[in-house]
Amino acid sequence: MNERLIVVSNRLPMGDTPSGGLVVSLHDVLAASGGCWIGSHPEPGDDHGAFESIGEKPYQRLAFRLTESEMENYYLGYANSVLWPLCHRRPDLVKIRPAYREAYEAVNRRIAAMIAQQVSPEDVIWVQDYHFIPLARELRKLGVTNRIGFFLHIPFPVLADLSIMPQAETFAECLAHYNLIGLQTREDVARCLEMFRDDPRAEFMSDGSIKLGRHVSQVRSFPIGIDAAAFEEEARRELPDVFGGASPAPFAIGVDRLDYSKGLPNRFRAFGTYLEDLRPEDIRPCLVQIAPPTRLGVQAYEDITEELQGLTGKINGQFAELDWTPIRFINRSVERARLARLFRTARCCLVTSLADGMNLVAKEYIAAQDPEDPGVLVLSQFAGAAEDMTEALLVNPYDIEAMAHRIDDAFRMPLDERQRRYRHCIEVVRRTDATAWAHNFLNVLRSSLKALDLDFEE
Ligand code: ADP
Ligand code: G6P
Repeated sequence: MNERLIVVSNRLPMGDTPSGGLVVSLHDVLAASGGCWIGSHPEPGDDHGAFESIGEKPYQRLAFRLTESEMENYYLGYANSVLWPLCHRRPDLVKIRPAYREAYEAVNRRIAAMIAQQVSPEDVIWVQDYHFIPLARELRKLGVTNRIGFFLHIPFPVLADLSIMPQAETFAECLAHYNLIGLQTREDVARCLEMFRDDPRAEFMSDGSIKLGRHVSQVRSFPIGIDAAAFEEEARRELPDVFGGASPAPFAIGVDRLDYSKGLPNRFRAFGTYLEDLRPEDIRPCLVQIAPPTRLGVQAYEDITEELQGLTGKINGQFAELDWTPIRFINRSVERARLARLFRTARCCLVTSLADGMNLVAKEYIAAQDPEDPGVLVLSQFAGAAEDMTEALLVNPYDIEAMAHRIDDAFRMPLDERQRRYRHCIEVVRRTDATAWAHNFLNVLRSSLKALDLDFEE
């Protein structure tokens, strides 16, 4: 058997500093196992129906081009102005336009046709994320009988929100074309099963799988992780002072794409409340927030950027001294070695997502700590990571005062408690690393029946 793993995602790693959980984890997985990664080229254009092979990595990379109009309607439109806000519990930010849906369907059809030309009978196809939900349906239409798995990196939407989606009934149908539907958490699985239970076309089989029409799917959770060992190693490496002699002490760190789902305004407000009400007079703590812009062109992202600039100005204006800037707000990516070092020197890390599939920053922060003198992870109860990392300092990101108290607790926490919490969290980070994630998913996918076998059974 000459099996090849074909991974499909909208984003393909290009530079040396990937930001975004999906690219970071899959790069780690494919670098170890080899295979082929298909994704979009960062430059818009016309691919004339054929993939472009790009650059050397330990695995093959094939790119398709999106036209300007597809970028606008499929990527910024349907993917990031309908599905993203809907899955992150922000139905108020959903923008419904027929052109968005049409482009989304058309891109999925086009990429399916390109993949169908490439695929050999033994290949396993692993589709990633909300950009490609209809891909298996389109591949099946073209006669592709290979095993096809799907992993949703973001939260599964609540049933009540699903009907906001245009042609909501096709959502369950598209998912049912996958042999395996992988989700981040047990809560996501519960929401997905609730959707199928609510669908009169779906039948639950005795082994827990779901039959819809001719298709049988399994739904399971596979918490995504990082290459823990490599990140731990990276953080141990000595680097010249990353602050160039202007190191703030103590400081809290935040690292996120500048996305409204990350709860940044409430994080900044909580830090302001902490400074105002709880900070001991003799310390001058900082919040170092690294947040590169993302999905520019979507209004909600422009709005959140402006809101944060305003809040930073206000809080710094109120508390700064000539030699102290409480919030350092940096809108750029940071290379991974420096990031690891920053994590290691930060007293605490603030992950305050309002909704988040997993949140890899939480795992990276823990992996970067010095076991003898670890920092504290303040973690939103609404990040998927909180399901297993129960010994992080869990917070409700809507409760600003409670968050301010958790920041105070984190700065004051005695060494023995920090070590106890760290030991629990690092065990989770190591157990649920990127390799375990991919291995567990692919094992279940490989043991599922091929579409052809199912057709024979009928
Ligand atoms: P999301 O997938 O929603 O962006 P995650 O926390 O799961 O959120 O993953 C984000 C990934 O991107 C992490 O690996 C993180 O280190 C990386 N990242 C985010 N912001 C930056 C940044 N400013 N510089 C470098 N890496 C970043
Ligand atoms: C999240 C999504 C990924 C996406 C990443 C970065 O991790 O689950 O699918 O790639 O954010 O977002 P972007 O729109 O830049 O690809």
